[in-house]
Amino acid sequence: MAVPGPEQVERAVVAAVGVAKEFRRTPAHVRAEALLHVSRGLAERAEEIAETITAENGKPLKWAEVEVRRAVNTFRFAAEEARRFTGDLQRLDTDAGGEGRMAVVRRVPRGPVLAVAPFNFPLNLVAHKVAPALAVGAPVIVKPASATPLSALLLGELLAETGLPEGAFSVLPVRGADMKSLVTDERLPVISFTGSTAVGWSLMDSAPRKHVVMELGSNSAAIVCPDWDDLDFAAQRIATFGNYQGGQSCIAVQRVLVHREVAGEFVPKLVEAVRGLKTGDPHDPEVEVGPLIDEDNARRVEEWVAEAVAGGAVLHVGGGRSGTSVEPTVVQDVPVEAKLWHQEVFGPVLAVAVVGSVEEAFELANATEYGLQAGVFTKDVTVAFAAAAELEVGGVIIGDVPSYRADQMPYGGVKGSGTGREGVRSAMEDFTEERTMVLTGITL
Ligand code: SIN
Repeated sequence: MAVPGPEQVERAVVAAVGVAKEFRRTPAHVRAEALLHVSRGLAERAEEIAETITAENGKPLKWAEVEVRRAVNTFRFAAEEARRFTGDLQRLDTDAGGEGRMAVVRRVPRGPVLAVAPFNFPLNLVAHKVAPALAVGAPVIVKPASATPLSALLLGELLAETGLPEGAFSVLPVRGADMKSLVTDERLPVISFTGSTAVGWSLMDSAPRKHVVMELGSNSAAIVCPDWDDLDFAAQRIATFGNYQGGQSCIAVQRVLVHREVAGEFVPKLVEAVRGLKTGDPHDPEVEVGPLIDEDNARRVEEWVAEAVAGGAVLHVGGGRSGTSVEPTVVQDVPVEAKLWHQEVFGPVLAVAVVGSVEEAFELANATEYGLQAGVFTKDVTVAFAAAAELEVGGVIIGDVPSYRADQMPYGGVKGSGTGREGVRSAMEDFTEERTMVLTGITL
């Protein structure tokens, strides 16, 4: 694969800046049709694209197929939102000084977007930046993860088939080290970044005057409450979503907080469910857990498990590693100071703690620098509302794992997990700013 040099990068930036005004004025139906074209193209080439994701990322084919289906939807939702994105009318005669006046509040693009995408969803997390940018008429430059540029380039191929003006999008698979000039380039006033917490916050520090949207890491908690009677379901969901794509999702379950009334029955079910996950060659359609992105990360995960066990944690299953593959692992009573508890493991490991009350579960879930999503297994509506109010996260999933994400809903974190929201409509709002026109002498 050719890596663009400084001249090509400059060409892409000049083209994005040059087309910004024209693109902003493109009729909504033109943008919507282009987005629909990409959605249809992804659906038609789904098999090939899923294979590409598996080949470049090691994600099991069954999860790569899910990712392609999600990207089909992300572009379709963006096409729908592009047609709806209109603005608001606000009457101003709510005060004597505003009699006969009306505000028309519309949203205009802040300017070209620099989209920096991670390796773990090399297609759909690129889609979550590109589709809303194009929906609002903002040019976008994509910097895919160095390990997984191919899916983004395939997306670029589909975009190139649309009638969007030159410069409206570019895919620049530059090396991570060469990204700094793009990050600080004042001609790109918006950065949408998904990736590690450390890189995200340092990127924000190096571009203090830009509008930066960041979706960062987490060590997401699933809470099993005493009223939850389908423990088989909870165990199966937590086992699956602690380990899907090797646990390399920011909302993979990492910490499991189970009430002591149900822990005795639940923990063995969880361990059995984890044991039952099929591991191996990610191209095998039956395989659920494949390798991690590289050996350094696999080694790190293995070391974190060993550190927890050395600190007194009980290993129920797993803990081993072979090359880039880590065994699906369940440990209990991980010391809170162990990395496995308070940092993001990004590997197939579940850390279980037994709690004496739902309040204690909320406190433990919050005792972390992260706050992306949490899952609460309860049927009690008062607990559900308490969870939504008390848990310091961007989203709470009731009756399921924190790993649930619908691509049209707001998605993002609080605290160290980031700032701003993705989800097609939310990202469209983030990529634009309000512009108000006041009309006077209006009959209301
Ligand atoms: C993420 O890992 O940040 C995204 C998770 C998802 O889109 O499902």
